[in-house]
Amino acid sequence: MNKQVRLAARPDGLPKDTDWSFDASPVPEPGPGQVLVRISHVSLDPAMRAWMNEGATYIDDVKVGDVMRAGAVGRVVRSNAPDLAEGDAVRGVLGVQEYAVAGANELDRLDTTLAPIERYLGVLGWPGMTAYFGLLEIGKPNEGDSVVVSGAAGAVGSITGQIAKIKGCHVVGIAGGTEKCSYLVDELGFDGAIDYKTENIRNRLSELCPRGVDVFFDNVGGEILDAVLSRIAMKARVVISGAISQYNSARFRGPNNYMALLTQRARMEGFVVFDYARDYPHAAEQIVQWIAEGKIKAKEHVVKGIESFPSAFLRLFSGEKLGKLILEV
Ligand SMILES: NC(=O)c1ccc[n+]([C@@H]2O[C@H](COP(=O)([O-])OP(=O)(O)OC[C@H]3O[C@@H](n4cnc5c(N)ncnc54)[C@H](OP(=O)(O)O)[C@@H]3O)[C@@H](O)[C@H]2O)c1
Repeated sequence: MNKQVRLAARPDGLPKDTDWSFDASPVPEPGPGQVLVRISHVSLDPAMRAWMNEGATYIDDVKVGDVMRAGAVGRVVRSNAPDLAEGDAVRGVLGVQEYAVAGANELDRLDTTLAPIERYLGVLGWPGMTAYFGLLEIGKPNEGDSVVVSGAAGAVGSITGQIAKIKGCHVVGIAGGTEKCSYLVDELGFDGAIDYKTENIRNRLSELCPRGVDVFFDNVGGEILDAVLSRIAMKARVVISGAISQYNSARFRGPNNYMALLTQRARMEGFVVFDYARDYPHAAEQIVQWIAEGKIKAKEHVVKGIESFPSAFLRLFSGEKLGKLILEV
């Protein structure tokens, strides 16, 4: 049987246990050109919260009753596709379940000699690609720039800051708690870290980035976005990667301080990582090399058991995890 997690109701605020249902259906058979994948790891991403709301965003919403959409990795256990064999490691949008059928054209084949399979959901998956393209294509950091990253100890933020260091920037991370802030400075080599739970972000930015912030890579939105906008440098680039502080709110809070963009002749721009899909292989190759050279460190926080999905998902919003959050099925 195939255990599955379905969206049972549209959440109001943080998802509750009753917003999910568990069910088991017979393991599906692959059709012509398709394979059956035994899923080993499911990616837990903040964007999944937005997909649970009614109405499309940059992608359709998940319908009530459907298997929850999620990126996942696993191994082919039956193949009717010429290009994929039993045992091949693959990645795709396979859902929160134990088995999935997919067309070979919907899957990426993974080289598990380069990295463990779950790493293809983190630094070599959407989060790594988001960091790479968001920073380099939208933030366009120059050597010597001051780069500030919010959500800095998370999957996207931790890689963004390390890429900015590789590019010769002065990097400051914003994260919740002393443990995460120490991790950024002591283990990942950030130049500074601000604990947004106990410190005044504006005052700390004046100390850590006295010439102002040239690039702000924002994963959080809300008050943190406002605080950093008040410290941007002339011609700054504010990269809108996400706004996790707002995902459970019925009303999104926009920036109050947007006139800083005018006074500082600055630019604020959002992006969706999927637009860079054609260039993922090149970026992944570069990141693999940086990992091998010891310039990038990646961490996965793995929670075990499909039954743990509802509580594991909430860790994205409570922050009770370090690095990329993954569910081991
Ligand atoms: N634009 C794109 O194409 C794209 C693609 C992928 C992801 N994203 C975005 O990137 C962001 C980070 O995603 P991720 O996968 O790397 O998640 P993550 O950072 O690994 O996990 C979320 C983190 O956000 C922080 N957080 C949660 N609620 C918060 C709040 N109210 N205020 C401040 N911090 C809060 C928590 O860290 P603390 O303990 O530090 O609070 C938590 O660990 C999200 O906004 C996501 O939507 C964008």
